Amino acid sequence: MPLPQTFNAMVVTETADKKFVREIKEKKLSDLPAGELLIEVKYSSLNYKDALSATGNKGVTRNYPHTPGIDAAGVVAESALPGFVPGDHVIVTGFDLGMNTSGGFGQYIRVPASWVLNLPEHLSLKESMAYGTAGFTAALAVLRMQQHGLIKSHGEVLVTGATGGVGSVAVSLLAKLGFHVVAATGKTDERDFLLGLGAKEIISRENASDTSGRALLKGRWADVVEPVGGNMLATAIKSTKPHGVIAVCGNVASADLALTVYPFILRGVSLLGIDSAECLMAIRSLIWKKIAGEWKLDRLDSLVSECSLEELDTKINLILAGKIKGRVVVRL
Ligand SMILES: NC(=O)c1ccc[n+]([C@@H]2O[C@H](COP(=O)([O-])OP(=O)(O)OC[C@H]3O[C@@H](n4cnc5c(N)ncnc54)[C@H](OP(=O)(O)O)[C@@H]3O)[C@@H](O)[C@H]2O)c1
Repeated sequence: MPLPQTFNAMVVTETADKKFVREIKEKKLSDLPAGELLIEVKYSSLNYKDALSATGNKGVTRNYPHTPGIDAAGVVAESALPGFVPGDHVIVTGFDLGMNTSGGFGQYIRVPASWVLNLPEHLSLKESMAYGTAGFTAALAVLRMQQHGLIKSHGEVLVTGATGGVGSVAVSLLAKLGFHVVAATGKTDERDFLLGLGAKEIISRENASDTSGRALLKGRWADVVEPVGGNMLATAIKSTKPHGVIAVCGNVASADLALTVYPFILRGVSLLGIDSAECLMAIRSLIWKKIAGEWKLDRLDSLVSECSLEELDTKINLILAGKIKGRVVVRL
């Protein structure tokens, strides 16, 4: 198939008065950066970081005009290396994609081959983006927690921000693996959704955010997956039982952490930092194989919605407001 002259992409432009405008525009393949692989993107997905990039957060994206999208799944169109050939089905998540490299919210990307993974067997391109960076991060958190002693007999595992991307996949995966999952959410009307994913109990965001100022709280959680940050993370750490682990995944509420050392020196709890963007290729590959195999979610469809490039604008506003439920797959 001959390559097209132009392709459609979301382009975020910075105006003279420092506003950021999102439009679907035609771009040329020659607009893309240098790279060993040209990939025709079939699906992308919406992550919180994409919304930051799409609204001018210079901590994520320094220069505009820019096409966000930290995730892409598609078909190799051109390859400068023998390891990939046109027609290969591939996934790219993280690294610099969608940050300062034109991202998956466009029908083509050009990237270094070192960012690209062959789509594992038993996973479709669309399914891979149902997980995307958020789902991969939840799986990475679970893997790292297992390496640090996560076992069922320790008791309840808390997942905060439970209806969000990282949260909903973490709830589903931990439930599939047989853990007693307690889901903390601000969306009290999504109780049935969370129970459907496998949570055993739902608690409100307020109940997971202590305001007493005490250095330690009654230890309840065996372990925690925590994408929210701020006081919710501090509360989770203070409420974790001796020798539990807390996977620190995100900061939608805040990047600050107000704590004493007591949870660490009196209870021996551990914080595990989770970074999906620069995760080593060997670990990435292992996690995607698990996602496609023994960890594949039976009810993946129940946490996924789909939108077109044109419909993405509204979803970006929703995720920034903390109002997205589950994962959004973007159809290119
Ligand atoms: N470390 C990594 O490699 C990595 C990878 C992916 C994502 N992340 C980070 O993880 C976080 C979540 O990402 P995501 O894509 O899952 O986002 P998301 O889909 O928007 O999920 C975040 C969820 O957190 C809850 N929430 C939102 N605002 C809140 C607030 N102000 N206070 C308390 N809870 C709030 C909401 O869930 P409820 O309504 O259910 O409470 C929301 O759905 C982000 O900070 C993101 O940057 C990190």
